[in-house]
Amino acid sequence: MEKFRIHGGRKLRGEVTISGSKNAALPCLAATLLTAQPVILCGLPRVRDIVTMERVLETLGESCAHSGGATTVVAGAGAAHHAPYELVRTMRASVLVLGPLLARRRRARVALPGGCAIGARPIDFHLQALTELGADLRVESGDIVAEARGGLRASEVTFPRITVTGTENLLMAATLARGRTVLRNCAREPEVEDLAGLLSTMGARIAGSGTDTLEVEGVDELHGADHPVIPDRIEAGTYVIAAALAGDGVTVSGCRPDHMGALLGALREAGAVLSTDAGAVAVPPQPKPLRAVSLTTGEYPGFATDLQAQFLALMTQADGVSSVTEAIFENRFQHVLELKRLGAAIEVEGSTAEVHGPTRLDGTTVMASDLRASAALVLAGLVARGETVVDRIYHLDRGYEAMEVKLDALGAAVERFNPGRYL
Ligand code: EPZ
Repeated sequence: MEKFRIHGGRKLRGEVTISGSKNAALPCLAATLLTAQPVILCGLPRVRDIVTMERVLETLGESCAHSGGATTVVAGAGAAHHAPYELVRTMRASVLVLGPLLARRRRARVALPGGCAIGARPIDFHLQALTELGADLRVESGDIVAEARGGLRASEVTFPRITVTGTENLLMAATLARGRTVLRNCAREPEVEDLAGLLSTMGARIAGSGTDTLEVEGVDELHGADHPVIPDRIEAGTYVIAAALAGDGVTVSGCRPDHMGALLGALREAGAVLSTDAGAVAVPPQPKPLRAVSLTTGEYPGFATDLQAQFLALMTQADGVSSVTEAIFENRFQHVLELKRLGAAIEVEGSTAEVHGPTRLDGTTVMASDLRASAALVLAGLVARGETVVDRIYHLDRGYEAMEVKLDALGAAVERFNPGRYL
């Protein structure tokens, strides 16, 4: 099982370029199921979750060809409609094929995603809303078995709670549903807006993109498209935090600072000096240590839950007491125990972690538990004294493209290794 070995204390300098957004690429890949024509997606990140989603599409009869940074997805002639458990269990976002399959093939069999390290993460809102669009759903042997005889029909749906992939699933389903669908209490994440952009290019008729209410006039069919996915705001935020933590002049380029307002605001509140232009965030050498900042995660444009772990790592080096409340997921502090192994002073009470800083971190072996927790441990290793080994780095590879390569290019000393079997 691969690990990272990090020699702490090295300053980061130079420029890092951000990859395409994993969380935009996944729904855009699922949207290719809505048409028989080729769809070209540009800038997909080379990360494991994208490979998994392409394998799901291939089990559904599509083919994915890669050339020069573009991925062309061509639908097959078949009517395959089963996304199997062995794939879905490795990536719960596979549930994003449910809406498109129902909309165009009028049936779907998708394994119910199991539990996840950061929370139960049910998909009841997805299923309830698809039922309101006329789908017949039942659970059979751990699979969602769904049919839409006669096709989906428009409806007015209000999500009980904001759900990113729930919004995306229903937006895709509504594009081919007969009539005018209204979706309320929608997620406003940039990844949802990017999906709406692709669907519109494919011929969908969507109003309200970027707001919490989406109106979709169903059409008979969608056609192919050529679409560049947006940059990954969470990867970008991770490197901006790394620059604030261990940087001596770092520019994070190829990103969308306008998608990063909550993080940049929190860093400025902490006293960080940074500047932005249309596609980059520049973090010069910081004149003094950061001040502790307290915050609560929230749906976009609030502070992203996917940056909470990384921000906690930063606050271990800030001056004062920071209270970080996780309001999206019920179990997203698994990185805290690992950060404490490095010497961090953090106490968790319910959904709030209280960080006392600055504390000296001393390298040791720590274990990643989920994608963003692993990023937080790598960041902490950058400033820990001595050597930090981060185990189970496969979590990181799900959503970060070649993180050790990008960090080493900035002057860090991060080595990927596989110690082989101990026994
Ligand atoms: C998306 O997950 C992201 N994944 C997550 O990123 C991100 O953390 C999350 O949104 C929140 O921003 C992708 O986009 C592929 P939700 P999603 O539905 O859609 C509850 C990463 O690190 N809920 O917005 O699954 C749910 O349990 C990943 O890249 C229900 O109860 O999240 C959670 O508490 C991790 N029933 C809250 O709502 C439902 O049917 C928000 O979940 C759906 C959600």
